[in-house]
Amino acid sequence: MSARAPLVRAIEATKVYAGRDAPVHALEKVTFGVHASEFVSILGPSGCGKSTLLSLIAGLLPLSSGQIVIGDTVIRSPYTDVGIVFQRDVLLDWRTVLGNVMIQAEIRRLDRRAALARARELLVQVGLEGFEDRYPFELSGGMRQRVAICRALLHDPPILIMDEPFAALDALTREQMNLDLLELWEQRKKTVIFITHSIPEAVFLSDKVIVMTPRPGRIQETLTIDLPRPRTLAVRETPEFLAYTRQIVGLFKTAGVLRERSTAGEQVPR
Ligand SMILES: Nc1ncnc2c1ncn2[C@@H]1O[C@H](COP(=O)(O)OP(=O)(O)OP(=O)(O)O)[C@@H](O)[C@H]1O
Ligand SMILES: [Mg+2]
Repeated sequence: MSARAPLVRAIEATKVYAGRDAPVHALEKVTFGVHASEFVSILGPSGCGKSTLLSLIAGLLPLSSGQIVIGDTVIRSPYTDVGIVFQRDVLLDWRTVLGNVMIQAEIRRLDRRAALARARELLVQVGLEGFEDRYPFELSGGMRQRVAICRALLHDPPILIMDEPFAALDALTREQMNLDLLELWEQRKKTVIFITHSIPEAVFLSDKVIVMTPRPGRIQETLTIDLPRPRTLAVRETPEFLAYTRQIVGLFKTAGVLRERSTAGEQVPR
């Protein structure tokens, strides 16, 4: 593999589910690459196959055709060198915060002492110091997602895949989580594949935004987000940021994902 080859590659990745009555074409020939340390968002309407794509990348589902390649490995079974944050936080109610993070160590049979030290360090980093012995029911939604992120990072995977991790959070918590995630990413330089419905969230976080069509999900366009880093909330007020979000709104209108009553003189900037 050359130094410039993408770390994660989807090559004509296609998924057809058997379905109850008829086959469901979830993904159709999706091809893209994600370079090491890149932050890439996958943005698309509900049901376009984003979670399916995540499962294919992580080797949790077989492809119908095409390939997923990570490094030199063609993915044919669950790929373990990845951290996954699922659409719901899936914490175990009967385990403490620390216990939930440590599941990763138990499953992977990591050295317990080293894993404990790392779990505590991660919890401090995401602002959960002092909550190690609390149970999930004692936490807010944002805190629960932070625990899920620590669990995904415990084994220090080079790749982090996140499936709408902040969708259930209130707007303010979501903004904070975006900022915290960027900080974590800048410090640890993970390769991140981030799935979202939110146009501003995708533009704010990413180096690249992959815009998908409605089902069967195909790549409609890939945008390179050329905004300076480190990014602060102020970047969202800039004309460059707004140009990106408008461009994506335009793409969703073209694909019929967004419809509005026609207004005299209304134009979508391209
Ligand atoms: N196990 C399954 N069997 C049959 N169809 C499925 C299965 N899982 C998903 N699908 C279908 O595949 C399509 C894509 O689903 P997927 O969950 O990947 O979408 P998504 O983009 O993640 O949606 P959302 O944004 O709502 O999370 C949907 O039409 C869904 O109904
Ligand atoms: Mg989904």
